[in-house]
Amino acid sequence: MLKDKILVLDFGSQYTQLIARRVRENSVYSEIFPYNAPFEKILDFKPKGIILSGGPSSVYSKGSPIPGIKIFDIGIPILGICYGMQLMAHLLGGRVAKAAKREYGRAELTIDDDSDLFKGISTNLQAVVWMSHGDRIEKYPEGFMPIAHTENSPVAAMADKKRNFYALQFHPEVVHTEKGREIIKNFIFNICGANLTWTMKSFIETAKHEIKEKVGNQRVVCGISGGVDSSVTAVLVHEAIGDALTCIFVDNGVLREDEAKKVERMLKKSFHMKIKYVDASERFLKKLKGVKDPERKRKIIGNEFIRVFEDEAMKIKNVAFLAQGTLYPDVIESMSFKGPSATIKSHHNVGGLLKKMKLKLIEPLRELFKDEVRVLGHELGMPAETINRHPFPGPGLAIRCISDVTKERLAILRKADVIVLDEIKKAGLYGKIWQVFAVLLPVKSVGVMGDERTYDNVIAVRAVTSVDGMTADWAQIPYEVLGRISNRIINEVKGVNRVVYDISSKPPSTIEWE
Ligand code: XMP
Repeated sequence: MLKDKILVLDFGSQYTQLIARRVRENSVYSEIFPYNAPFEKILDFKPKGIILSGGPSSVYSKGSPIPGIKIFDIGIPILGICYGMQLMAHLLGGRVAKAAKREYGRAELTIDDDSDLFKGISTNLQAVVWMSHGDRIEKYPEGFMPIAHTENSPVAAMADKKRNFYALQFHPEVVHTEKGREIIKNFIFNICGANLTWTMKSFIETAKHEIKEKVGNQRVVCGISGGVDSSVTAVLVHEAIGDALTCIFVDNGVLREDEAKKVERMLKKSFHMKIKYVDASERFLKKLKGVKDPERKRKIIGNEFIRVFEDEAMKIKNVAFLAQGTLYPDVIESMSFKGPSATIKSHHNVGGLLKKMKLKLIEPLRELFKDEVRVLGHELGMPAETINRHPFPGPGLAIRCISDVTKERLAILRKADVIVLDEIKKAGLYGKIWQVFAVLLPVKSVGVMGDERTYDNVIAVRAVTSVDGMTADWAQIPYEVLGRISNRIINEVKGVNRVVYDISSKPPSTIEWE
């Protein structure tokens, strides 16, 4: 079945991705295009409706993002949000001006008209909505009528029911907006008439078919690390082409306790996949000897990984593809009109490898958001432990072993890390936090154990809550749990006589210590 699609045109709002996710939560597919996407590309996409995102600009400022006017002639429903609303007013003959009072945060919305957009949400409802704007509609365009207001915005929502154009001054996509989900749902189903055609089952079938077609009788190689994205990619590709996939797991010597074994067990035993385990730990540790600077550690590990991976991949006959777990947010970022982010992580840089081996990329997750990858993994029968795993950095424990990375120091850090994770899981907190781990500091401090004076290592425990790792807050782990972690580390890990808890948020700190 062809999938019904809603197109989101991006004008630079921090919430653009959230709009697409909200649509997809309703089993309707959604993609984001930059505001200046060519008109033909928009037509080719065959959307059932378009949502114009918010954005930081003013429609009347020079250089503000303005899409081609032709989108209003396609004859499909359009919903403008915030800047998207002002654009509609501006382009369709209304007037936008600076609001006498800027509105940020909560506002009380009163719905004045029982339009399709507010169906099932009673009129005269006082709902709290999330505003973020400095401009407002002074005059709505011909054909439109106001359908809701707030104290500061007489036109907080407007509609041209004949043409199916709707616009909101507030953000229905954010959780703080009451009834926001219902409003988006009404737009997708009542107004655009979309059908429920975006399900994980249908995604899997289509993806498998596409992978099979593309690969033919050639072979695919995939690097796996134990992380969610690479594991789900590998399982999906394996479902499509079976043993024509070879997975390579490189042990870089800075993995957590039993990491390699766990991943191997899961993929080999449960999914009968071919995995090449390459123990390159000595090679990596030799290169890391005496290196204290975290950036150098990262470079060494990244470069060495490419070399080891390449050596192994070269041994596979007829290999033509590299499967990679690229996700939709990376795809959007790379084609955003703001330009790709400057912070592409070095270990993701496989460009050289592709060129040298003449490999083509297979990126079966490039349409998916992280939460959808988890649903996919679940649908593919992968264990919850893998699907819900916390992120783990490519350079591994090397950047949590501050200063020198030696086998002895890594052994201490691994043991402490096992205890931290164990106690957090036992307390039922693992799923509530973004990341939790131990860091080995390059400091020694005095302690007493029995009657003996000790002079030993300090372990820092780091636990943070976050939605995307971009910003984070230190997690308020109960004292009893912290107490148990500290007791066990000091009692069970030889060489540690002090445990501290990191109470810094990001920014200004980062999640990893490095
Ligand atoms: P920071 O320390 O910058 O980390 O606040 C943000 C998030 O990114 C993870 N991280 C990495 N993930 N490769 C990865 O796949 C890396 O090189 C890398 N470095 C940091 C970090 O664990 C946190 O979740």
